[in-house]
Amino acid sequence: MIQKAKGTYDVYGEYGKKLLYVEELIEGLMEKYNYEYFRTPIFESSNLFHRGVGETTDIVTKETYDFKDRGDRDITLRPEGTAGIVRSYIENKMYGNHITPVKAWYYGPMFRYERPQSGRFREFYQFGVEAFGSSDALIDAEVISIPVNLYKLLGLKGIKVNINTLGDNESRNNYRNALIEYFRPHIDELCEDCKERFNKNPLRILDCKLDSNLDIIKNAPKTIDYLNDLSKKHFEDVKKYLSAMHIEYVVNPNLVRGLDYYTHTVFEVEASIEGFGSQNVLCGGGRYDNLVEMLDGPKTSGVGFAMGMERLMTALDYEKIELPIINDIDCYVIPMSDNEKEFAIDICMDLRLNGFIVDIDYLSRNLKSNFKQADRLNTKFVIIIGEEEKESNILTIKDNVTKEEYKVKIDNVIDFLDEKLSE
Ligand code: HAM
Repeated sequence: MIQKAKGTYDVYGEYGKKLLYVEELIEGLMEKYNYEYFRTPIFESSNLFHRGVGETTDIVTKETYDFKDRGDRDITLRPEGTAGIVRSYIENKMYGNHITPVKAWYYGPMFRYERPQSGRFREFYQFGVEAFGSSDALIDAEVISIPVNLYKLLGLKGIKVNINTLGDNESRNNYRNALIEYFRPHIDELCEDCKERFNKNPLRILDCKLDSNLDIIKNAPKTIDYLNDLSKKHFEDVKKYLSAMHIEYVVNPNLVRGLDYYTHTVFEVEASIEGFGSQNVLCGGGRYDNLVEMLDGPKTSGVGFAMGMERLMTALDYEKIELPIINDIDCYVIPMSDNEKEFAIDICMDLRLNGFIVDIDYLSRNLKSNFKQADRLNTKFVIIIGEEEKESNILTIKDNVTKEEYKVKIDNVIDFLDEKLSE
């Protein structure tokens, strides 16, 4: 038997219904925030991610799915959504002819060759947003409010919003120098990867998966102590606007995030649910004021986040949140024999196009097993079509709950069902 590839999963049944419900909620929420739907390709030129996500990040050094296509091009399956959206923003010249800020949202599969475990997959889905063209702290706060409000709409309670700031370029450089000075005497205590990171990008030492528990990492200098006045003001404004939005947060000075493109605000929302497991970061993001320029666009500020759908679904399960999914159908249509089949198909299609959830017998079952099937499908009404019904255009409709039987003229079926189903 051929099995699914390691780190992937199938969606079906109850999980599929819940997922669709959450996806629709996201779509509605994005409409309310007035974000525009974007869809970019699942594969892009490899150098987009090398330059966009950062050469020294774990994602690029260890986790991308890279291959050569038949035209000998270097292609990468996207490990995240930001780089592709930035490319699209630049390539489609949205800085020139679009309403500013451009507020984009996206949803789709991402691929990372990570060690699979609970909450960590090789193919996973992200919902994310990216907003370009405003350096106002209001938009940082607004971006943070999106996942928080989605969790609120879903009734998810066990969440914790962690925020921090890396500051602008000047502050980041001061911080980088401080880190180099700090780690220099401790290089031998670090893992092999971190020795490399020390030379290339010392900030990445702070989110090393191996060294994260070492005291030298925990006691490392904090970004917050290296901010210039402008960066301090930006962070103060973010906090002020979050409070105006009634969003509770914790300033976590150790939060630096695992991607290279951030400046100023960074944030993560964590599930604080008993027993949730180590992969408890439900979403993360921040501001990236250099990325558009780094990818050959004009200097443009950006801010965004992405949320792992699988972790969100697990969190809903852990909190036993019941979603209002539909588990029953309105009508089940039974043609008594092949002679009534086309007549029954016509009714079935007509009802579906009029908004009813309808199923039909596909297996030419006998009446008894058709009623069993109707129960399995949780149908509210059964429409039985025999010779007599076909001749007279008067249908036999049985209420599958009360077992009451009705004779309804074919022209009145829609009104009848509308009335009964709204009772
Ligand atoms: P990220 O922190 O790498 O950020 O991923 C965002 C979220 O995706 C994580 O918090 C997690 O919920 C989910 N996630 C990441 N990797 C996996 C995995 N292997 N399996 C399951 N879920 C996973 C980004 O991707 C940035 N692009 C976010 C961003 C957007 N920053 C600015 N704009």
